[in-house]
Amino acid sequence: MLTYLLTALTYMHTPCGYEEFILLSDALGVSTLVDTINNAKPPDATEATVLGPFFTEDAHDGMICLHRERLGLTSMVVPNGDSIASEGKGDYMFVEGRVLDTKGTPIAGATIDTWETDSNGLYDTQYSHRDKPDCRGRLTSAEDGTYSFRAVVPVPYPIPSDGTVGKLLSRLGRHVFRPAHLHMMIEAPGFEKLITALYFEGDPYLTSDAVFGVRTSLIVKAEIITDVEETKARGFAEEKSHVY
Ligand code: DHB
Ligand code: FE
Repeated sequence: MLTYLLTALTYMHTPCGYEEFILLSDALGVSTLVDTINNAKPPDATEATVLGPFFTEDAHDGMICLHRERLGLTSMVVPNGDSIASEGKGDYMFVEGRVLDTKGTPIAGATIDTWETDSNGLYDTQYSHRDKPDCRGRLTSAEDGTYSFRAVVPVPYPIPSDGTVGKLLSRLGRHVFRPAHLHMMIEAPGFEKLITALYFEGDPYLTSDAVFGVRTSLIVKAEIITDVEETKARGFAEEKSHVY
């Protein structure tokens, strides 16, 4: 990944910390520019966007197997429909998607890594204590390319702004917020890896993202589910949830 190679190399010549340097690269739009050049996708593929500093490899260890007992499963395969977030992390959000090739043929067995902030606007790795991954998960697409999981509704949040980058943005008269988003990294044998994210229609920061990660094609509309029966059918007795 050229972005990180670039930032790591540059780090050799800079007195500020590694994280701060990734931030600088993101806040100046360098990461987005490099991603755009490096990960250019054909027009009929889903657009890529910035990876950010909060991806971790251990997402599957945090998946909460809501349906494992109900389905009598004993294997470690994570069934679709499980939760990537522990309880109390925010409003429920059900995510349903499909992985297709650029001709529209479903891709089975694709690995989908997803990660997001909780309702405090923090990734699990930003808390001083982290027992296990939370608000991140790894799933596999089914035969028809579908996947589904329960998450929480992410919120807009400020990128870490206590260092040089915060000062720089404030000198430039820019705020430090990113619109709410759900990250996704999708891999399947024989296909290029896709690093992308989904943003939410109506978010106040869509046009002024601190790291320039928004793409119009990646803005989705979350529907509010008010029908209790519909939420129950998904295995949850919760009155208000979001789905998209
Ligand atoms: C940054 C944070 C993110 O959550 C993200 O998706 C991209 C960049 C950042 O702090 O630079
Ligand atoms: Fe992010």
